[in-house]
Amino acid sequence: MVTFRTSARSVDMLGRQQIAGIPTAVSEIFKNAYDAYAVNVRGDYFPDRRVLLIRDDGIGMSRTDFETRWLTVGTDSKAYGSVLPKIPRPRSIAERRQMGEKGIGRLAIATLAPQLLAISRPLRNVDTPDDGVVVALIQWSLFEVPGLTLEDVSVPIRDLKRVEDIDNNVLSSMRQEFSQAFERLGQRVPDAYRDRIAGELQSLDFDPRT
Ligand SMILES: Nc1ncnc2c1ncn2[C@@H]1O[C@H](COP(=O)(O)OP(=O)(O)OP(=O)(O)O)[C@@H](O)[C@H]1O
Ligand SMILES: [Mg+2]
Repeated sequence: MVTFRTSARSVDMLGRQQIAGIPTAVSEIFKNAYDAYAVNVRGDYFPDRRVLLIRDDGIGMSRTDFETRWLTVGTDSKAYGSVLPKIPRPRSIAERRQMGEKGIGRLAIATLAPQLLAISRPLRNVDTPDDGVVVALIQWSLFEVPGLTLEDVSVPIRDLKRVEDIDNNVLSSMRQEFSQAFERLGQRVPDAYRDRIAGELQSLDFDPRT
């Protein structure tokens, strides 16, 4: 027996290459916030740091949600008949007809920037921030490299107590973890990609708390 393998490029094609442009990509993020019963979504762009920060106050994701819903390509989390639990609705907000259906919308984020720091906290923890946040680093450029499969793309992830704990040390340890996995790919990553990704990783040197 043989099985299908998924090239990393297929994720790039479903996201970055399929999306018409930045407005469409941003609208995918806003649609996800709506589906997550957010009341506020806010985007801030910091041109000096080349950082785009988008945040919502919806139901968020736990570590398990993040792995089963966000890190699973084509997840059917909003589809009828999904094996995943339905998106929980905060009692104060009326039921919303879910806009998502395909499970690929968030891949559009790759259109906006080559790297993503995704931070999430499930809503039930808002009043008890000690219950933790999850933070993951996604290096989208690696998905463009021909010949790699999804297993070759490492996604450093951390569980922390509070959002304020995500400091420069955390970021640099995640960057290091990614770099080590990236180095192990060796010659499978052509020089042009290697240089570009190394340069992008260097720019991940800031204190997210600011
Ligand atoms: N802002 C968010 N808050 C909470 N969960 C989110 C958020 N963004 C994404 N998710 C989770 O990640 C999953 C994947 O999102 P994605 O946009 O890729 O797919 P979708 O919304 O289910 O379908 P579509 O591809 O049609 O947008 C969502 O189903 C949801 O569970
Ligand atoms: Mg969506």
